[in-house]
Amino acid sequence: MALTEKQEVLVKESWEILQQNVPEYSIRLFMRIMEVAPEAKNMFSFLRDSDEIPQNNPKLQAHAMKVFKLTCESVIQLREHGAVAIEGSTMKHLGSVHLKIGATDRHFDMVRDALLRTIEEAVGEKWSEEMEGAWGVGYDQLAAAIQAEMKDDA
Ligand code: HEM
Repeated sequence: MALTEKQEVLVKESWEILQQNVPEYSIRLFMRIMEVAPEAKNMFSFLRDSDEIPQNNPKLQAHAMKVFKLTCESVIQLREHGAVAIEGSTMKHLGSVHLKIGATDRHFDMVRDALLRTIEEAVGEKWSEEMEGAWGVGYDQLAAAIQAEMKDDA
């Protein structure tokens, strides 16, 4: 699906909103992931040793924000170049990290859903089908690129 200029603007706007409350939206993303896939908890080094999702944990916030930010950048790259254009060495690194921790297709699907629902909640009335479509396409292309690297590495 081709992205429109408006969709790029919508994604940038929602990324601004997410950045205004990093601790809160990071926790929300992880809570949603843990609700659907409690077994994924032990995959994360910063969740493994605690019974709860730690508040204000810098590593947790970093993972959540990287997922949001890289997805946002994907949307921009898809608009500008028609493809996700993350530097090769970064892509290879992402492929090998996720291969090592055992991320499956199902995990990628549920992170997608958690991402969209978290953004929906964050932007409130600004949420629209157009915005959802743009984040969804950006995520799908980014996830496909990471998964392609995982297969190459296997
Ligand atoms: C680590 C991004 C999806 C689980 C990371 C890192 C990044 C990242 C940037 C840090 C790599 C480093 O250490 O240098 C993304 C993006 C995703 C995605 C952009 C989707 C498009 C997933 C999924 C899972 C997952 C589906 C499975 C539940 C993990 C885990 C780590 C990690 C467990 C290691 C964290 C730690 O223990 O410190 N990811 N990720 N990620 N990711 Fe993802």
